[in-house]
Amino acid sequence: MQLFITGATGFIGSWLVRYFAAGGRSPTASGRGDPPQSLLDLAGYLRADICRPMATVGADVVIHAAALASDTATAPALKAVNIHGTRHVFEATRDCKIFLYISSSSVYDNRNTAHVEDEPVDYRRLSPYGLSKRLAEEWLLQQDWRRRTLVILRPRAVYGPGDRVLLPRLLRLRRRGQIIIPGDLRVQSALTYVGNLCQAVAACLVYFEKHPGGAHCFNVSDAEPYEMRDVVGNLLSAVYGDQMPFREIPVLPLSVAARVLEWLHIPAPFTRFGLAAATQNNVMNIEKINQTIGFQPEKNLWEVLTDIGAWANAAGLPAVQAGAAGLPWNKVTGSFFIPPLNRS
Ligand SMILES: NC(=O)c1ccc[n+]([C@@H]2O[C@H](COP(=O)([O-])OP(=O)(O)OC[C@H]3O[C@@H](n4cnc5c(N)ncnc54)[C@H](OP(=O)(O)O)[C@@H]3O)[C@@H](O)[C@H]2O)c1
Repeated sequence: MQLFITGATGFIGSWLVRYFAAGGRSPTASGRGDPPQSLLDLAGYLRADICRPMATVGADVVIHAAALASDTATAPALKAVNIHGTRHVFEATRDCKIFLYISSSSVYDNRNTAHVEDEPVDYRRLSPYGLSKRLAEEWLLQQDWRRRTLVILRPRAVYGPGDRVLLPRLLRLRRRGQIIIPGDLRVQSALTYVGNLCQAVAACLVYFEKHPGGAHCFNVSDAEPYEMRDVVGNLLSAVYGDQMPFREIPVLPLSVAARVLEWLHIPAPFTRFGLAAATQNNVMNIEKINQTIGFQPEKNLWEVLTDIGAWANAAGLPAVQAGAAGLPWNKVTGSFFIPPLNRS
């Protein structure tokens, strides 16, 4: 089975390339820029900007992980990469038997119950990023999947060595020996270890090779949700090696400030959508992927916490805090790659 993986220069794409290469596959990886040597050691490389139409790609399976994954990007920029880009990848891979789209839990509006795949969604309550991922899903669902298979995975808040989004955000909460948090963060939140996501992708490919056809959508996260206050405290201790006190800032004034800054088009350190996602329960129901394809996440944050702390220090805290572009493929990150248990 020949794999084509987009977004391979990014965090999740880099893990998918390593994961399938460790399983004996030689995927073709795709990204926009010059490929790092560590990527070329494991995979073929196709340079492509998905905002433009792409040449035909010969592969059996496409795993589409390229996206503009940003809370602060403009709606036109999100549309160009996440909606038109998805269409261009689809058109270049019409001969692929399986199209696996890495979507996001951001396609759900924030509500206090565990998200299920077919719940109704109020589009006015989605962030611009979430809306672009939702519309990309909808465009894909409108295509003809009688002879091919569409798999949409919706992971929530993916973490692990190489992470350029979640960990940088959490590290920035540390200020002058304190952890500054919105509210008390005693909220339940689903998170997804990147190794669990790779295993979910592999499990879907195995299952849908045997059961082809149709369009399928699954939530993915670790087996149990976490209390965000525990997550923040323990991750920062693992990274900085000390315990710091929390300082709670009331959510309402932060939310008002975020609205005003957005209205004035002034870049803010947080958005009202980001704030809402962080300060409300945000849990995923993962029964469907378990019951349909038998996927069960193996690891949780507490098992990989020490690795993440060691990785952040070895990669350099300023680079990790800044979410530097080179993190997913530098030598340090590669050395923290945990080979899959169920090689596929
Ligand atoms: N990280 C999370 O917590 C999370 C949670 C749920 C879902 N997701 C989804 O998972 C996927 C991967 O996210 P990630 O965290 O790995 O993000 P990332 O590290 O920012 O990687 C994004 C990848 O997309 C590529 N890309 C962006 N614009 C492109 C363009 N115009 N043409 C070609 N490639 C382009 C980037 O290439 P460059 O290296 O050139 O920028 C990079 O390889 C995304 O679809 C995201 O929506 C992520």
